[in-house]
Amino acid sequence: MGVSLVEKNVSPDFWRGKRVLLTGHTGFKGSWLSLWLQSMGSTLRGIAIEPSTTPALFDVAHVAEGMEHRVVDIRDFAAIKAQMQEFQPEIVIHLAAQPLVLYSYQEPIETYATNVMGTIHVLEASRRAGSVKVLINVTTDKCYENHEWVWGYRENEPMGGYDPYSSSKGCSELVTSAYRCSFFERAGIGLASARAGNVIGGGDWSVDRLIPDILRALEADMPLIIRSPRAVRPWQHVLEPLSGYLMLAEALYAERQKYSSAWNFGPDDEDAKPVQWVVEKVTGKWGSNTFSIQSSGKNQHEANCLKLDISKAKSQLGWKPTWNLDQALEKVVAWHKNWLSGSDMRSLCEQQIAAYQSDVKASNISIDENIYELSTNP
Ligand SMILES: NC(=O)c1ccc[n+]([C@@H]2O[C@H](COP(=O)([O-])OP(=O)(O)OC[C@H]3O[C@@H](n4cnc5c(N)ncnc54)[C@H](O)[C@@H]3O)[C@@H](O)[C@H]2O)c1
Repeated sequence: MGVSLVEKNVSPDFWRGKRVLLTGHTGFKGSWLSLWLQSMGSTLRGIAIEPSTTPALFDVAHVAEGMEHRVVDIRDFAAIKAQMQEFQPEIVIHLAAQPLVLYSYQEPIETYATNVMGTIHVLEASRRAGSVKVLINVTTDKCYENHEWVWGYRENEPMGGYDPYSSSKGCSELVTSAYRCSFFERAGIGLASARAGNVIGGGDWSVDRLIPDILRALEADMPLIIRSPRAVRPWQHVLEPLSGYLMLAEALYAERQKYSSAWNFGPDDEDAKPVQWVVEKVTGKWGSNTFSIQSSGKNQHEANCLKLDISKAKSQLGWKPTWNLDQALEKVVAWHKNWLSGSDMRSLCEQQIAAYQSDVKASNISIDENIYELSTNP
């Protein structure tokens, strides 16, 4: 039995009845987060453009059924302002973005317009709404100036970005910082940014992302074409950073000034793994032995080594990774096989969310037991 059990977990009691506005709710992370918030009883409105893939998790899991779904372009400030005025959210979580590195080389103007001006529109509309207490801007691990070194980036390191996507997210961070100093601090609104690693999970059908590419190749029994087999990325299940965003919003709500800053939510260091390792694990779990890999050979520049230091979230928020990469890949393969066999995917997502929360709880108890052991056996 543990002593002084302080659970570090998302608190459904906190979220019940809260008015939450989510941008990007039709996307991969947004759909999972919408389902999680719905399961806790939040009053939820999402603003985004329609899903960009077919199939899309938003449709497959019937996400719109438990929330107010609004189709709005974040490049249209008047429309965003009208949504905020009408809905009067207390908490805003900003996920909407053009999130793909390769596409950003093809469409840099669209990428900057969405990721930089779009963020400014959300921040400006939030401060004018008069109801917002907490805003979280979701950026990325790629916002850091990348030195290709082996250490994880810390929150106080410089912003950068070689490609338009990474740089647009670095810009979004700088905008957030300026809005915090110029407006939000004075208005008593908590404003944080969140930088996560490469997220994986069931229901991602994006182009040029590793897990969707592997699953498409496995389904079609075709060779997999990959860009950079040796590139190292901080992989994590989508529920990991989402739990971080939710815990951060709860902390900000309680103490706005203390938590208004930037936060990394990455995996433990051993789960920053090369692309090739992930490919082999997924194909093993899928049960394929006819799989072959080809290198694409025509690579745009992408970072080779990228890791996040998560000491701050661990020590100040009590957040920590729960599912390691192997468990995360297990969940992804199980999700996808269920989808192929026609299961109810909304219910499967809800089961995985519940399983995640119960695993967080179990890992908190085991940490607490270790503390107890130490304190009783000096
Ligand atoms: N998936 C990852 O590995 C990863 C890693 C780090 C950070 N992120 C960040 O997390 C967020 C969500 O990413 P995702 O993987 O769910 O991407 P996604 O492409 O699945 O979803 C993007 C969402 O943004 C919306 N959107 C795009 N352009 C818009 C516009 N002009 N107006 C309104 N809505 C618009 C889309 O409709 C969708 O709802 C993004 O900010 C992304 O940069 C993702």
